[in-house]
Amino acid sequence: MVFKRFFDRTPAADAPETTDDAGTDDTGEELEPEFDAAAPEDAPDQSWAERAARVIAGGASTGSKRPSALYGTDAPDAPTHFLHASGCHVVAADGETYLDCSMGLGAVALGYAEPHVTRAALDAIGGGHVSGLNSTLEVTLAERLCSTIPCAEQVRFLKTGAEATSAAVRIARIYTGRDMVITSGYFGWHDWASEVKGVPDGVRKDVIRVAFDDIAALESAARTAGDRLAAIILEPVVERLPLDSWIARARELCTQHGAVLIFDEMKTGFRLAPAGFQELSGVTPDLATFGKALANGFPLSVVCGRKDLMQACSDTWISSTLAGEAGALAAALTVLEWHDQADVCELLAKNGAEMRRVVSAAIQASGAPGVTLLGLDPMWLLRFEDPSAESKFLQAAARQGVLFKRGAYNYASVAHDDNAVRAIEHAASAAFVELLDRT
Ligand SMILES: Cc1ncc(COP(=O)(O)O)c(C=O)c1O
Repeated sequence: MVFKRFFDRTPAADAPETTDDAGTDDTGEELEPEFDAAAPEDAPDQSWAERAARVIAGGASTGSKRPSALYGTDAPDAPTHFLHASGCHVVAADGETYLDCSMGLGAVALGYAEPHVTRAALDAIGGGHVSGLNSTLEVTLAERLCSTIPCAEQVRFLKTGAEATSAAVRIARIYTGRDMVITSGYFGWHDWASEVKGVPDGVRKDVIRVAFDDIAALESAARTAGDRLAAIILEPVVERLPLDSWIARARELCTQHGAVLIFDEMKTGFRLAPAGFQELSGVTPDLATFGKALANGFPLSVVCGRKDLMQACSDTWISSTLAGEAGALAAALTVLEWHDQADVCELLAKNGAEMRRVVSAAIQASGAPGVTLLGLDPMWLLRFEDPSAESKFLQAAARQGVLFKRGAYNYASVAHDDNAVRAIEHAASAAFVELLDRT
């Protein structure tokens, strides 16, 4: 047993220093663990998607990475699993390299395996990234975020977006002593945020969902909630910037009702502007949540806001064993350093505008019907009227070496340079032409 030998041989503190090479024992045998968890395995008779379907419920742990979610249909030849990722490229399990436009669902803005971020995370991990005490990086990052995000006087770290939004709603409920929450947007899979099987009616009845930009719906929901309104939580950007009047009305209603305004900046933070929509709009919410690009793909989320509100954390229980894990904190600190050194968000907007320009030109040149380009430059999407045309397009583009996101945002990254844009142009043009040929 390699590990047993490895640990058995750890010298006692008073043992004499050995002159052996650190990696061999007396017989010259290797003492290092002998496996590489990341090494591809041979699976001659089954694809990775088939193997995943057997042992992973639903085929993937992230909903929008299920094979059917990636391509909309059975696509046996299209890539579903990857081995390595770097910049804006992924090496899929079949060894082919693809240019990726989904960038880990927006979690990666600086590029996959960005060397500075990776180095910082590895240094933190190598130095022992968890212990029974809190990492100093937790404090340093909290200080940096409080000076970067307008609404942030205090923060709490968690690991996922769903955790951060759930914490924000919990804080608002504790602070106001009320239950009702008005929501607009996607906030993750937790009960209060979901309308799916398995969520008890009791949880649903305290949540009123309203459509994006719908002022009348917002006002009507606030009337229904009345003096039970704890919070309005908004995803402030959904395919377009919101009406100023919608955001202003949400702010007013919260102020009138003594309720808490929460912006979920999961997609917008460190992408549209470092502090997200609140920085762009100048409207400061009471609480906000961040994640995704905050740590360039390392698992980290934040709930932050006014100190008097954040104090409610101490009146309830919001905690997770690895919330202050230092690898992700170090990654986030390096992301902040990047934003200090360069106008990352401007770069994302510039690269995204180029991506959109060539895809839009490809749509027009091909004359492909029923497809429109929506969104903002740093986060844009293709909307197809016919889902089967979308599937065909995605598979054709993959055959050309480019992965577009089905039904959701493509995210620009710093790594989407001129060469990447040319590859996108070529793949989109060929895929739209192929789509027309086949229909
Ligand atoms: C706006 C928004 N909030 C919350 C979430 C949930 O984040 P997570 O998937 O990390 O739980 C997402 C995920 O896409 C999101 O886009």
